[in-house]
Parts: sequence; structure tokens; C-alpha cells
Amino acid sequence: MSTINSKILNANCWDVLEETPDGFYDAIITDPEYDCNINVNELCRVCKGNIIVFCKPENQFFKPDEYLFWVKAQSTKNYINNCGRFVEMILVLRKGKIFNRLHWSQMIGVYDDKLIYPPEHPWQKPLSLIERLVRIYTNPDSCVLDPFFGSGQVGIACKNLGRCYVGIEQDKEYFELAQRNLGKTCVTYYWCEECGLPEEEKCNLGDT
Ligand SMILES: C[S@@+](CC[C@H](N)C(=O)[O-])C[C@H]1O[C@@H](n2cnc3c(N)ncnc32)[C@H](O)[C@@H]1O
Repeated sequence: MSTINSKILNANCWDVLEETPDGFYDAIITDPEYDCNINVNELCRVCKGNIIVFCKPENQFFKPDEYLFWVKAQSTKNYINNCGRFVEMILVLRKGKIFNRLHWSQMIGVYDDKLIYPPEHPWQKPLSLIERLVRIYTNPDSCVLDPFFGSGQVGIACKNLGRCYVGIEQDKEYFELAQRNLGKTCVTYYWCEECGLPEEEKCNLGDT
């Protein structure tokens, strides 16, 4: 039997990753801010499985193995200097062997999941979309990292689907929002190595 804790950290992700052993996570699913720089080598170092990163089409952080697309709801904002852009790309770096085929309708690679309005975070992603990515690119015994956690949708998806997660969010307000969404408790997952099925036990995370 092996154990792992889900948790949320209020920190700069790059400081935390510096202390993280090689291949610690089974997958990364994350959504950095549009024009930031990400250290993809560092993400590859700490993750032995698939790495999935949202980005805008003009700023692809790395050359992926697969491109997926999220067609967002249209809005009437921001037409002053440029045409509207309502597509985000989802870069998939296929590492490891995990690839779970779902019904063909879930595998088309172009998704138009809608947010439930009003969103809690300005750049929130639809939970249904994140859940689909979690189901395809991780297994029930996976530990998933989101270093740009925001409101914690990756954590919520992992919790709903029996994966464990580590979320890192540097903004105090969004960190507290994610804590409200996921509870200040963490879940310890016990994995039965014989049958591979998870069992949960709540523990008190205290001040994270
Ligand atoms: C695009 S938002 C993620 C939104 C998230 N997908 C959701 O559904 O709520 C990116 C988040 O990363 C956080 N962030 C930016 N740089 C960071 C860093 N170096 N370490 C940790 N969090 C960071 C921002 O505060 C922001 O909340």
C-alpha cells in the first residue's frame, strides 16, 4: 500500500519545483498566464508522464506532440486594436504511456465547453474540459501537478475523478479561493498495490 497527499501551496511554483525530485509527478495539467515564460525543461524534469499546457495560439511555450483546441464563448470586448480571438490551444507533450481512450465524441480534440457564469477567476477553465483531460491523460492512481492553480479547477477535477493533486498558486486571494473550492482539508489516498483501487481518508492540512 502506498500513500500520497493532495495539497495546495501558496508559493511561486518555480521555487517549489526547484526542491522537487526528478519524475515526482505523473502528469502536469496547467494554464499559465498568456504572456509569461515557462521553464518547460523544469516541468519535464519533475514529471514522468503527460504534460498539458493551455496557451494562446500566438505564444506556444514549446513544440508539443499533440494540439488540442478550446473554442471559447465569444465576447464583445477588446475589438479596439485587433480582431477577437476565441480559441485557446492546449499543448500536449506525450510522456510515459498513459492515454485513455474515451467515447469517440470525447476525443475530437476541438472542444467548446462552456464556463458556468459568473466565473470565480478571470481566466478560469471549464471543469468539464479539465475533467476530460484528466480522464484521457492520467490514471486513477496518478498524482497531478498544476503549478498555476488559479481557482483550482484541476484540483476539483482530480478530486472528482479520484486522482491526487498538488496545486501551486502565488496570489493569496486566488490561493484562498482554491482552498474554499477544495476545502482546507487534504485527502490522503491509499493505493492498494494489489487491486490498484483508491481509498480516501481525510486529514487536516492546517496552514499550508
Ligand atoms: C491563467 S490563471 C489559471 C486559472 C485556472 N486555470 C482556473 O481555472 O482557475 C494562472 C494563475 O497562475 C498564477 N501564477 C502566475 N505565476 C505564478 C507562479 N510563478 N507561481 C504560482 N502561481 C502563479 C496566477 O496568479 C493565476 O491565478
